[in-house]
Amino acid sequence: MSRTIIVSNRLPTKVIRTENTLTFQPSEGGLATGLGSIYRQDSNVWVGWPGLFVEDEAEEKHVQEELLNDSMVPVFLTEAEIRDFYEGFSNSTLWPTFHYFTQYATYEQEHWDAYVAVNEKFCRAVLEQAGPDDTIWVHDYQLLLLPELLRRARPDCTIGFFLHIPFPSQELIRVLPWRMELLQGLLGADLIGFHTYGYMRHFLSAVSQLLGLNSQNGQLETPTRTVLVDAFPMGIDYERYAKAAASEAALTHEGEYREALRNTRVILSIDRLDYTKGIAQRLRAFEVLLQRYPEWRDKVSLIMVVVPSRDQVAQYASLKEEIDELVGRINAQFSTISWTPIHYFYRSFPLEELAALYRLAEVALVTPMRDGMNLVAKEFVASKADQRGVLILSERAGAARELSDAIIINPTDVGQLAESMHDALVMPEEEQIARMAAMQALVKQYDVFSWTKLFMDRLSYAKIKQLTLA
Ligand code: UDP
Ligand code: G6P
Repeated sequence: MSRTIIVSNRLPTKVIRTENTLTFQPSEGGLATGLGSIYRQDSNVWVGWPGLFVEDEAEEKHVQEELLNDSMVPVFLTEAEIRDFYEGFSNSTLWPTFHYFTQYATYEQEHWDAYVAVNEKFCRAVLEQAGPDDTIWVHDYQLLLLPELLRRARPDCTIGFFLHIPFPSQELIRVLPWRMELLQGLLGADLIGFHTYGYMRHFLSAVSQLLGLNSQNGQLETPTRTVLVDAFPMGIDYERYAKAAASEAALTHEGEYREALRNTRVILSIDRLDYTKGIAQRLRAFEVLLQRYPEWRDKVSLIMVVVPSRDQVAQYASLKEEIDELVGRINAQFSTISWTPIHYFYRSFPLEELAALYRLAEVALVTPMRDGMNLVAKEFVASKADQRGVLILSERAGAARELSDAIIINPTDVGQLAESMHDALVMPEEEQIARMAAMQALVKQYDVFSWTKLFMDRLSYAKIKQLTLA
């Protein structure tokens, strides 16, 4: 039977070392949470890094066995690979460049060499798993070279690629010294998917300008093959979030939080620690709200969850300091004995507690500077059974292309952001319900299962098309 081999840098389970034991926990991030609901179907398997540097062979074997029981195959990275491939090229070159933060990007030959070597390592791991009829589905910016490496080893195999982050204007791609290799790497796939048409257009224009390859209706002709390119906005496992929000555990947590907060109204913000998420701007906007509208003091609190991420990369470490300082300053300025303006958590939460927070919040602030999609916005919508609540969404998140019933804002405009929080807090209930109902219908219909099916059907079509053209 043919199966699907999912490949991404990070597995949906991460292994954490605590003193002498290893614990297995769900990974954060949209790729892992989104695809987490589909990889166990059929006899599929997920190949990726378990997020841990293993110390010896016995430990490696133990991790391997545990993960295999749950359909995962680990690719172990050495400390040098984590530094140069993961923190280096992936997160200090590609991530800032693709999110329009070129001022943070570094261009190190050693990091590039490690990126090539780790993509080759992933290629070997996938080839060990893949039979001739299997479909290989590669994910995200850490593995841009993998489609072409796989293609060279198996010229006829079926390869899909999906990018979970924005694809920027070709002006930014041009800056990368290894731009040709990166684009060529992707062209090994049969189908290349993006979250939005905008990202897809940017990719096609980069390929046209830099490689001189033209396309028509998303069909790209390379000297050897036809490659399809299309937009597939990723969805969430709607029922999972709706059920979690309705669960006994979530209701109990919500009750506890409400009691502790007494009658305070809640604005919610949930992100990984990342400069792309606009966390500092959001805090400044909350401060402006309290200055411009003193009537909200004592009545509204911001609950802010920041999930630790990539803290070995300098920009992330300094962002953490900036957030700590801003939260401290704002709380020191406005707190009263009975009211804390910002409840700040620097850790991750289990699903039921997240669901309780989604239930509790009247307003969700999803205001990234750039974001490929942003699944938190969709999870908030899915959790609102009574359809009350307002989503404030950045126009630069992929999700804004679909969720047009949110309050759409420009995340750099702190004044507008403050006003939008005020507008959300005074929005009549009928309007909240009308907007939320429209968003729910959309998020429910285009869930992660329909997303997977659309991608897979299109991939089969790409293959048939190649055969008929051959
Ligand atoms: N998330 C989580 N634990 C937390 C906070 C967030 O698992 O404590 C999840 C959240 O539910 C969402 C994902 O992390 O599914 C974040 O995905 P998103 O697309 O919003 O952003 P990304 O982190 O991929 O940039
Ligand atoms: C984003 C990326 C994913 C990544 C996740 C978490 O969602 O698109 O590829 O896995 O962030 O980041 P991390 O560096 O911890 O894997």
